[in-house]
Order: sequence, then structure tokens, then C-alpha cells
Amino acid sequence: MPRKRGGARSIAPVQLPANLFAQAEERREAARHVDWKFSLYPAQQEIEADAHRFKTVCNGRRWGKSFLASHAAVERANAEQGLVMLTAPTYKTAKNGVWAHLLNNLPAQYRAVHQSDMTVELTGGGRVLVGSLDQADNLRGAGTGLVGIIVDEAAFVPDYAVENVLRPMLMDCNGWLLAISTPKGRRGWFYRYWLRGQSGDVQDAAYRSWSMPTWTNPTLPNIEAEIDDLRNSMPENVFQQEIAAAFVDDVGQVFRDVQLCELAKRQVGKDGLPVPIPGADYYVGIDFARSGSDYTVITVLEKLDDGTLSLVWLDRWGRIPDEEPINRLARVILHFQPRRSIGEENSFGGVYMAWMASKYHIKVDLFNTTGQSKEPLVQQLAAAIEFHRLDLWPESDPLGKVLVNELLSYERQETAEGHATYSAPVGYHDDCVMSLCMAVRAAEGELGGDAVVGGHIEGSVEDWMLQRWEAPAVERGGVLVPGGARFGRRW
Ligand SMILES: Nc1ncnc2c1ncn2[C@@H]1O[C@H](COP(=O)(O)OP(=O)(O)O)[C@@H](O)[C@H]1O
Ligand SMILES: [Mg+2]
Repeated sequence: MPRKRGGARSIAPVQLPANLFAQAEERREAARHVDWKFSLYPAQQEIEADAHRFKTVCNGRRWGKSFLASHAAVERANAEQGLVMLTAPTYKTAKNGVWAHLLNNLPAQYRAVHQSDMTVELTGGGRVLVGSLDQADNLRGAGTGLVGIIVDEAAFVPDYAVENVLRPMLMDCNGWLLAISTPKGRRGWFYRYWLRGQSGDVQDAAYRSWSMPTWTNPTLPNIEAEIDDLRNSMPENVFQQEIAAAFVDDVGQVFRDVQLCELAKRQVGKDGLPVPIPGADYYVGIDFARSGSDYTVITVLEKLDDGTLSLVWLDRWGRIPDEEPINRLARVILHFQPRRSIGEENSFGGVYMAWMASKYHIKVDLFNTTGQSKEPLVQQLAAAIEFHRLDLWPESDPLGKVLVNELLSYERQETAEGHATYSAPVGYHDDCVMSLCMAVRAAEGELGGDAVVGGHIEGSVEDWMLQRWEAPAVERGGVLVPGGARFGRRW
């Protein structure tokens, strides 16, 4: 006979209030109506409320796409009492983009946050899981209770992730898809879905698509002046793509997926520069103004443990009297104590660097831009961007915007002899691009060589100059400058 465990004490049954479940349901019902920190504007509302199964939204930069994505995820998850996957092309864009938007915009009383797997349990009963599509296969197992998927920056997501992973998941649960992005050429799944949304064919009845330019966002201040400014800072085809949200043919862009790099933030300390982190590895790139309309640009990157290069400082100025650029550059370099700095030698670059060496003992390695040396330099930056090794300031930052626009506008062209040339389109700037190129080169070195060396001149400045310019340094106005015929005219 089995022994009775723990004696024969009887436990009185717990009396549950009769209406407990009804009360819980009532609370949940109330929490389904989220009191958002912001409300969607009418065009966003229309898209969120539309009942098509496959919705494709192709809109301009800063239209409010990520706002809409995070809002729709919560509303749909609560309404359907299920799981909505809110996805973005890379882990970093998922975390810094949609995940950050979600946490910023959804008031705390409506959610329980699980940071480690980027999931939000909604008090209204739904669940939102933020996922990245660079490792889309990892999402396969996460689909329990799935009702729909939202893809932010969808044009940057490869076909594989959607066709082989997301679509089958949706088939299993008869779920819906909301894809949101700026356009990226007439190709890929995003473009095809958008086309089907426009077609009006019976077989495409489940599809609907929208296309709206940036200036239809009524919440952006000074929008007309802003649009004028944007129009002037990028060539027409880039403007059509980024702001007017048109699918244009390949715009000859050299730097792809720039939009996915807008992940760093400008930090500013008391003296107007960010406080350097002790022990951090900083690298500097400098591009010197060549002519009256050019800028001198200094870029500072921090190399993180995983090899990511994160933009910590960017500054630029037009032509200012001779010694002033030296002082400004030196201030930044002395502040960050970079492991290496590279500046462009061409035109006056070499002279300025020598001047800085003699006045401040700062060593800047020189890069001589030629038809041959430029291509690998530019390709190195292109690779850092495409492989998501670079975190830049977003275009909501005034200088971030300048940089992003320069990167998006930068072109590759072929000469009659079939050589590639790289530059900004005629009439546009590339100073920020070149400065960034040199900062990346400083941080990563040249492929197959070019060891990273310290940023200080060791030993005598005179010897260093002699080595570099093969002529003894001479004193002019109290500072050492490189001697030799090469610089004779300037001094
Ligand atoms: N419904 C809204 N209410 C208030 N501000 C909004 C709204 N939608 C967008 N915005 C503003 O527009 C900016 C851009 O929105 P965001 O979603 O980041 O754009 P996108 O993802 O299209 O680039 C936001 O920083 C915010 O200031
Ligand atoms: Mg966005």
C-alpha cells in the first residue's frame, strides 16, 4: 500500500473569486488600447488600418517609417492576440532601429521587456519579437503564435530571407506581411512586392503598395527649406530615390547600404568634443580644402573590440586663414591621442601636416592620392560599409546628413580607356568621404601591409622632416617647416 506523503493533512481548496477571469480579461482588454506617446498622422493611419495581406510601403527618408513599424507591431499583436515579428536587415539596425523605437514610444505600463531576446510581452495580450534578417534562419523556430511580420528597411533585406524563411512561416499561419523601406533600385523582392501592390490584377488582390515622399511627413519642422537643402546636396537621381521615394535604375553608387550604418551618435562633452574613453583606440582621417569652395574635414573613428569602426567626431570648415586649420586639427588630435592619423598629401596637405608636426609634434601620415591609389582606398571604405563594420552618425544629425548625402552621391565612372574613376558628381562635395576613407585606412591599414604606428613623432622633428621630404627643415616665423624647393613657393 502506498504511503501517504506528509501525513493526512487535508488542504482547503482555494476559493477563487468567481469573476477572476473576467477581471483579468477586462484589464487586458483595457490595455489593448495603448495610449501612445505620439499618434500616427493620417497617411500612417491609413496604411496601418488597411486590411490587405501583403502591404509594401516605399517612402522617403524620415517619412516616419520606423515609427509606423513599431506602432503597427504593437497594435496588430494586441488586436490579434498573437506574435508579431518586427524585423530589420541586420542585428545592429534591429537593435538601434526598431527595438529602440519600440521602447521609446511604447509607454512602460503596456509592456514587459525581455532585453536578451528583444521581446516585448504586451499587457494587452500580444507579443512583439524584434529579429534581424542577416541570420534569418535563426527566426524559423520563433514562430509560435505568429500572426504577421513587419520588415523595416525592407529593400536592404536579401531575397533569401523573405522567400526561404519569412514566406514559409507566413504560409503556415496564414499571416500577413508589412514591408517598409526607402527604395533601392528596380530589383529584389521589395520591388516585386511593390509592383504587385500596384498591379490591380486579380491574382494580386492580396497585395497593396504605397509610395510617398519625405515631404508628406507633416511632423517635420521647416520641411520646405529642408527639402530645398537636400535637393542641393545630392544629384537628382539620388534625391529621387532617397527623398521622392522613386524606384530609379542603379544610380551608379559606390557605397551601398549606407542607410544601415547610421548607428552611432554624436556625444559632446563640456569643451564641445566628446570625452575620450581611456584606453580606446582612435584613428583620424583628414582631407584638406583644395579650393575656395572645398572644406577641410577631420574624422575620428573609434575601433571597438569586435572591429567595428564607430564615428566619434566629425568636423569641417571652409577656407580660413592659414594657421587656423592647423590649430583646429591639432586640438582634435591632441584631444583624442589617436593611434594613427592619415591626411591627404596632395595640394597643401603635406605642407599643413609638416606645419602641424613642427608646431605641435603631431605626426600625420600622408596619403598621396593618384588614379592608382584612390581605387583601393575607396574600395576599403565601401567594404567597411557593406560588411556593416562602420557605425556613422544618422542623417538627423546636421553633419551626419552631410556625410550620408556625400556617401550616397559618390560615383564610379569609367573613362574611355575603361579605367574606373571615383568622385563626387560635378558640383558636389566629397571632402567628408575622403576624410572618412583615410580614417578607415588609418584604422585598418592597407591590405597586406602598412602596420599601424603611433601618432607621435619620436626623436627630432627635423630628422623626421628630413626623412619625409628629403630636405633639411628650415625655421620660418618661429616654427620649423620643411625645406626644399618643393615647398619654397609657399613659405
Ligand atoms: N506620427 C508621428 N508623430 C510625431 N512625429 C513623427 C511621427 N512620425 C514620424 N515622426 C517624426 O519623424 C521623424 C522620422 O521618423 P522615422 O520613423 O525615424 O523615419 P524613417 O524611419 O522613415 O526614416 C521622427 O524622428 C519623428 O520626429
Ligand atoms: Mg527608419
